[in-house]
Amino acid sequence: MQNRVTKLFKIDYPIVQAGMIWASGWRLASAVSNAGALGIIGSGSMYPDVLREHIQKCKAATGRSFAVNVPLLYPDIDKHIQIIIDEKVPIVFTSAGNPGTWTSVLQEKGITVVHVVSSSKFAVKAQQAGCDAVVAEGFEAGGHNGREETTTMVLVPAVCAAVDIPVLAAGGIATGRQMLAAMGLGAEGVQVGSRFVASMEASSHENFKNRVIHAGEGDTCLSLKQLTPVRLLKNEFFEQVQEAEKACASTEALKQLLGKGRAKRGMFEGNLEEGELEIGQVSALIKNIKPAAEIVHEIYTAYESALKQPVK
Ligand SMILES: Cc1cc2nc3c(=O)[nH]c(=O)nc-3n(C[C@H](O)[C@H](O)[C@H](O)COP(=O)(O)O)c2cc1C
Repeated sequence: MQNRVTKLFKIDYPIVQAGMIWASGWRLASAVSNAGALGIIGSGSMYPDVLREHIQKCKAATGRSFAVNVPLLYPDIDKHIQIIIDEKVPIVFTSAGNPGTWTSVLQEKGITVVHVVSSSKFAVKAQQAGCDAVVAEGFEAGGHNGREETTTMVLVPAVCAAVDIPVLAAGGIATGRQMLAAMGLGAEGVQVGSRFVASMEASSHENFKNRVIHAGEGDTCLSLKQLTPVRLLKNEFFEQVQEAEKACASTEALKQLLGKGRAKRGMFEGNLEEGELEIGQVSALIKNIKPAAEIVHEIYTAYESALKQPVK
């Protein structure tokens, strides 16, 4: 299959494995790229020297294109950007910030830039900043989330109508039929996050992966809306935040409750009660941990057969 997204990224299937803190290092990104989709290294949980090591290992493990995700609010962002330029990373996915700041700097070095948005207003801003494509990420998604709570089903057609650059859909996509639904709404590709957390190559802790495959409907909820909204699996830490919010805790008190290293404790170290466990609603449909290449091929094969008979 060829479309604007496969051509832009030089990939076989219009499937992107999302950049994810504590999950998507070089092992996952290179496995996905070798399978013909686009793998992304999530730099948001990496110190600059760690990011450099992951990029170098990824380049050694795959001759295919890959990307780095850069959350724009990251404190060491200048250093990350310099490493990405020095290491000649071909594609960057930016998120959580203003795309106006770094897009042209990266593009002048020949790097393709994609920005993640949660509204059509931000999609237009990304297009004006010169981005090559946008990811429209709906409210179902794991990780940090838009304040307006627009779901993928509504967001994707709204963003497609608002911009001319290619749109990838994200949030709630883990199967071929969900991919077909997103493409039917006008997306030219999909960004898949949660499904790849439950992959062999994800660097997430086994406890977290096993919790994900046992999650059911209603087990995730948007939390910490007063700070930065994030979709989490319900656990003891989540309940503490709920209680604090019910008691009208100040932003300062919430920051203190969150403390430092919560996400690492949960997703990387496997502390399922005290840690922050970021995952999407679609975890309710994920039942097994598989090699990343198998996930790519399974989604694409199911997409193709659903395309032959879209309506039951
Ligand atoms: C564990 C986890 C960590 C994430 N970390 C990031 C991140 O560092 N940067 C980012 O832009 N998005 C992050 N996200 C969001 C994903 O990039 C992606 O857009 C989202 O997972 C798609 O929705 P899905 O989970 O329903 O597939 C994260 C998601 C998860 C599940």
